[in-house]
Amino acid sequence: MHNRLPLFLWFIFCSLLNSNLVFSQKTYQNFTPGKIWKDNNGVHINAHGGGIVYVQGLYYWFGEHKIEGEKGNTAQVGVHCYSSKDLYNWKDEGIALKVSSDLRNDIAKGCILERPKVIYNKKTRKFVMWFHLELLGKGYEAARAGVATADKATGPYSFIKSYRPNAGKLPFYAALTPENEKVNCDKPANKSDGFFCRDLPGGQMARDMTVFVDDNGKAYHVFSSEENYTLHLAELTPDYLGHTGKFIRIYVGQQTEAPALFKKNGIYYMVGSGCTGWAPNPARWFKAKSIFGPWEYMGNPCVGPGSEKTFGGQSTHVLPAPGKKNAFIFMADKWEPKNAIDGRYLWLPIQFEENKLKIEWSDRWNLSVFK
Ligand code: DGJ
Repeated sequence: MHNRLPLFLWFIFCSLLNSNLVFSQKTYQNFTPGKIWKDNNGVHINAHGGGIVYVQGLYYWFGEHKIEGEKGNTAQVGVHCYSSKDLYNWKDEGIALKVSSDLRNDIAKGCILERPKVIYNKKTRKFVMWFHLELLGKGYEAARAGVATADKATGPYSFIKSYRPNAGKLPFYAALTPENEKVNCDKPANKSDGFFCRDLPGGQMARDMTVFVDDNGKAYHVFSSEENYTLHLAELTPDYLGHTGKFIRIYVGQQTEAPALFKKNGIYYMVGSGCTGWAPNPARWFKAKSIFGPWEYMGNPCVGPGSEKTFGGQSTHVLPAPGKKNAFIFMADKWEPKNAIDGRYLWLPIQFEENKLKIEWSDRWNLSVFK
């Protein structure tokens, strides 16, 4: 009987090992674009169309929580939050903003809630989440911006309001270009101007979006507007909870989606996509010396095999790399509209060649690629 004890203990040890109780979740040291990315519970990260905010040594990743099947393209749960110290290993922080069970609520369960982005307001000490909202049962016709706030990064976030921005406001023109002449609502010059003028009284459509905080603390909301024909870049109020009415139109009539903005050495950069539903298309990038433009269209930043379809993905955010100067990570989603929960994350390093952006595919990489 006695000599069986070590064997029995060995059996118990192996069982615990198998069930992950002895050693915690595997530690990651690389990004593997397009593969399953497991969180601390061993579950594929569920934060699609997301963005990341860095606060006091921790990164918080917010994104759309998707469920299985095509139903997962609607918001059945809310916005999921994860935290990380190193960007490779993510802890599940739960649902930061929950959809409402009250079907009359703007963020009723089953609505479409996309591309949530969180910024921190140093003056009000609030975390502010903006997102693209489509009301329950109305497809993509509402085209609203939604906002929620929280006292802690991980939430819970309280929904505040949703609306179409900048009702009754005309664009601000830092400079006029042949592609961006003053809109004349007495005689709209093209299709996009027509949509702009149609929506002038009630507010402009706001779909794919991002938010960006400049060095001086001013925040901007960038969104696909005018039936997705034109991007708007709009200043937010000092509390980040509304629009001031100052905004510009970017790349009028050219259908830019999925904007992601960043700043390097005083120059503003933006990466976006074309407009082809869930299917990938070529990425596009822009640069500007002033946030209010003019924004110059610079073509496709992606190079090499797969570059004509953004390697199967669509931009969502650009993140300054930890502890590195002038180093940025391009974050994209590889959508799986038939089984939304299986969407993958394509994060790739951004390279600069004489101030031109370059994004190349890599199966596996880590932050050591940045000098
Ligand atoms: C592309 C957008 O970028 C996504 O966020 C989503 O709105 C899909 N279109 C819906 O087709």
